[in-house]
Amino acid sequence: MSSRAEAFEHWIRTSFVQMNTELENLYFANDDRAQVIGCGDPIKASLRDEGHTYVVDLLAEGNTGEGFDSAYGVLGSVGLYLGALRRHELTNPAREERSPFPEASSLALHVGASLGMAPRFSTGHLATHNRARAGVRKSFTTLPDEFLFIDENTRGILSLQRAADALTSVVHLGVSSPVADVMFDAAKQALRDLMRFNGRLMDQLDVERFFYSVRPYYKPYRVGRQEYRGANAGDFSGINELDLLLGLCRANDPYYAQLLVDKMLFMLPSDQARLRECMTRTSLLDELLTLVGQHAHADWFQQNARAYLEVCDLFGQAAAQHHNGLVRRFIEGPAANLNEHGLEGITASGPPLPVLLRSLEMLRDLRLAADRRDITTRHNDLGRLRLAVKLR
Ligand code: HEM
Repeated sequence: MSSRAEAFEHWIRTSFVQMNTELENLYFANDDRAQVIGCGDPIKASLRDEGHTYVVDLLAEGNTGEGFDSAYGVLGSVGLYLGALRRHELTNPAREERSPFPEASSLALHVGASLGMAPRFSTGHLATHNRARAGVRKSFTTLPDEFLFIDENTRGILSLQRAADALTSVVHLGVSSPVADVMFDAAKQALRDLMRFNGRLMDQLDVERFFYSVRPYYKPYRVGRQEYRGANAGDFSGINELDLLLGLCRANDPYYAQLLVDKMLFMLPSDQARLRECMTRTSLLDELLTLVGQHAHADWFQQNARAYLEVCDLFGQAAAQHHNGLVRRFIEGPAANLNEHGLEGITASGPPLPVLLRSLEMLRDLRLAADRRDITTRHNDLGRLRLAVKLR
């Protein structure tokens, strides 16, 4: 990493975090916790101006070509800086046509384009590729609730990646392989872990702190002229690999295909490649369904179809937990107390909350293979498989 990139990162890990934390404590002490404008102005100005000097230095240096890690680190630093400026209302895409921070925008655009990623910070920066130094990971604040959120999100993502790796191995072994049992077991264990981590968030995360002091850093913001949606814990390929390999979602479904296209640039290039490859595979469900007529009574079919169904059930339970536990408790619940102004821009992707919730419900129901008439789920296909397994 160049010395300028390192200096910026050091600032992000120290003064930046301190200033954000001070601001959060000021806002949180207000009668109206959503009131940000007019509060802590001198700290906001320092944050903006100090960050600007690092950005200008890096922009002058140009792309040092020092490798992926370095460029990705710079994208993260400039992204966290812009995310914080948005959070503190020093920029707001609703009232501007272009970012008021042209240097930071240029730096983010340059690095983002060279990496093949959106020019903003994304989940990887705070989760799977957030490199700890002496135990401390990058964050916006030092609030315990932010660390809890980042850490449990990361554990959840790592679990879903492990489950996706395991199912990819089943694809290579073939769904009739007697050896697939260890990989189905690994996937089940990873999904149980995911639910344990989600459970810890439900029990330990403070609803108000999360809603007022953590979530606002994930709002959309402009880079140059264009507005980019916020980061969310779904910006990695593992979750979609599971959707596709299990066969619960299909890459040719217009809603789901759009979702994949929209998230592509928010993922690391290595994840983008994994997802593209996965889109060319036949799902395990489709494979099992072509075998059911002829082989339903074979031991291998019974074992592997049962294990597949168990993985599906756990995956569905985890999806329901995300929606009914996390989204409802930490977003829908507190949002009910906000007025129209307070509701603006509370979601990471930008659409109004009811629209986002409907779209997340649709995903949940696809993953649960729910019996819905208005969307095509795999309810009947899973039913056929369950019948074949029970018939034994
Ligand atoms: C307090 C905890 C959490 C809350 C409130 C929450 C809420 C949300 C919301 C509102 C979205 C939609 C993003 C947007 O467009 O605004 C989302 C997306 C997503 N979240 Fe979470 N989330 C939480 C934790 C987690 C964890 C631990 C995971 C596990 C890795 C996770 C996985 C996902 C995924 C995969 C998506 C993308 C949509 C999908 O494919 O389901 N979330 N989350």
